[in-house]
Amino acid sequence: MKVAIFASGNGSNFEAIAGSDELRSLGLGIELLVCDQPNAHVIKRAEKYHIPVFVNQLSDYANRGEYEQAIIDKLMPLKIEYILLAGYMRVVTPVLLGAYPKHIINIHPSLLPKYSGLEAIERAYAANEPVTGVTIHYIDEGVDTGPIIKQMKVVRLKNDTEASLESRIHQTEHQMYRTVVRDLLIKNNGVSK
Ligand code: GRF
Repeated sequence: MKVAIFASGNGSNFEAIAGSDELRSLGLGIELLVCDQPNAHVIKRAEKYHIPVFVNQLSDYANRGEYEQAIIDKLMPLKIEYILLAGYMRVVTPVLLGAYPKHIINIHPSLLPKYSGLEAIERAYAANEPVTGVTIHYIDEGVDTGPIIKQMKVVRLKNDTEASLESRIHQTEHQMYRTVVRDLLIKNNGVSK
């Protein structure tokens, strides 16, 4: 199964997937990292795994439609079946959604629909939420909306700082994203097309 991962920043979720021997042995092929930030750390992670990188900046295009069309033009010849968003800091428009209907997956660090949008962990912590978590979902045209694939709770511990809570949320993300991709591979017979 061929996928492209889209990311804008650190790339720990990218690496959780790219570094998984189990996913590779089930037939996962990460054909491309699409990154909109030329200095993002995720690019270094991709190079480590010899995964090609397409750095594509919105500022180089007249509008978001043309920006996404350039991405589609890269993905189509690679026969990409799924797009995995992993810290991709852009709202996807109908141009990309139309090219990959129900095949674009996102991860978000909250129990959606709560705390959609930016700084979800910080806001949940500041609000003293006793339980927060992680959501993996198919995307639609909204911000962090679309059918939910999997959710997991992360409980706030008595002595949690924002950093310790964030760290557990990220650990949960990595494990969850691998599980969701594994289930997808099994559903697709684990065979790379
Ligand atoms: C994660 O918390 C993810 O849920 C959110 O952006 C963050 C990306 O982290 N969408 P990383 O770049 O994968 O380390």
